[in-house]
Amino acid sequence: MKEINYKKRILITGGAGYVGSTLIRDCLEEGLIVRCLDLLIYDGRPIVGFINHPNFEFIRGDIRDAEILRKALKDIDCVVHLAAIVGDIPCRAAPKSTVQINFQGTKLIADLAKEMGIERFIFGSTCSNYGVVNSNEMATETTRLNPVSLYAETKIDCERYLTKIHDEKFATICLRFGTAYGISFRTRFDLLVNSFAYEALTKKEIIAFAVNTWRPYIHVADMSLIIRKMLCIPAEKISGQIFNAGSTSQNFTKRDVIEVLKRIMPGIKTKYIESVDDRRDYRVDFSKLENIIGFKPTKNLEDGFRELIYCFKYGVITENNYEANKLETLEKFFKEKEEVLGN
Ligand SMILES: NC(=O)c1ccc[n+]([C@@H]2O[C@H](COP(=O)([O-])OP(=O)(O)OC[C@H]3O[C@@H](n4cnc5c(N)ncnc54)[C@H](O)[C@@H]3O)[C@@H](O)[C@H]2O)c1
Repeated sequence: MKEINYKKRILITGGAGYVGSTLIRDCLEEGLIVRCLDLLIYDGRPIVGFINHPNFEFIRGDIRDAEILRKALKDIDCVVHLAAIVGDIPCRAAPKSTVQINFQGTKLIADLAKEMGIERFIFGSTCSNYGVVNSNEMATETTRLNPVSLYAETKIDCERYLTKIHDEKFATICLRFGTAYGISFRTRFDLLVNSFAYEALTKKEIIAFAVNTWRPYIHVADMSLIIRKMLCIPAEKISGQIFNAGSTSQNFTKRDVIEVLKRIMPGIKTKYIESVDDRRDYRVDFSKLENIIGFKPTKNLEDGFRELIYCFKYGVITENNYEANKLETLEKFFKEKEEVLGN
């Protein structure tokens, strides 16, 4: 990424998270000045390596706190807003905090950013907003949304708000990302590809449900790339708009994902079961983004599986990382946290 050649000051909320920590690394490498605002719901390990970087600053705080936000937004050019409770099950486990953080927190930071003269506000939304789409149809940004979770509902509410409040001085951009995969400083194992890699290695068997359902996938490094490209496109081309963020070539059924894994680890067994628990089924058209920033993915599922397997094999990522970040742990964590987080 050589296009960014100016020293922008970026505030990344949720920078200690899966996507945010990779984005911080990449922005610092490009010479940007980065401030991270994060409540550290999990822990601070993902950003330890940046703390003594001359272009990095960390503020611990809550995006629902106007006073903290004013401090975090001071002298900033662009905001990349990633802080949220993420995923259908964590949001279901802590519904009160989800609405407060994902929607009300977003509204607060966007209002203050506009008031304080921030140029650009990039919001991390999700393709989960599509929910279930007729299987012959590719979802474009204008396809009717059909959310099947509180997570998606809060993201849609944010998009509606952000696309309303932009103006010639305050650009808002909503990026509907596909399902992420790959190694980061806080690798999530509530994500399909990442958890399949672990299960294949340790159990030699993948148990999967609803294997014919479609989903678009994106490597976490490519999420960072898209965000950084969006920092330097002229505002008038993108402001007030929603973009599907990923690549049309990375729409897969779960069965396809497993086939990729089987090519890398031919011995693994598979067990397919029916389930009605996760009804999301959508294929997404990313041509709007491809046309505006010429985005082509730099990584594919095979790269993702190979790096995860490598990390497990050599102990870079351990069973403890997996256990701490798998779906069941997150569900329990957010059920217990609901009273502390919600206020
Ligand atoms: N990972 C994906 O598959 C994916 C896909 C689509 C969209 N997204 C979006 O990208 C963003 C980042 O996702 P992620 O995977 O990095 O999630 P993550 O859970 O790893 O990171 C979220 C971060 O936000 C912080 N946070 C939560 N509530 C906060 C609050 N009130 N104040 C300050 N900080 C707070 C957490 O401490 C955490 O560090 C989210 O908005 C998510 O909805 C992610």
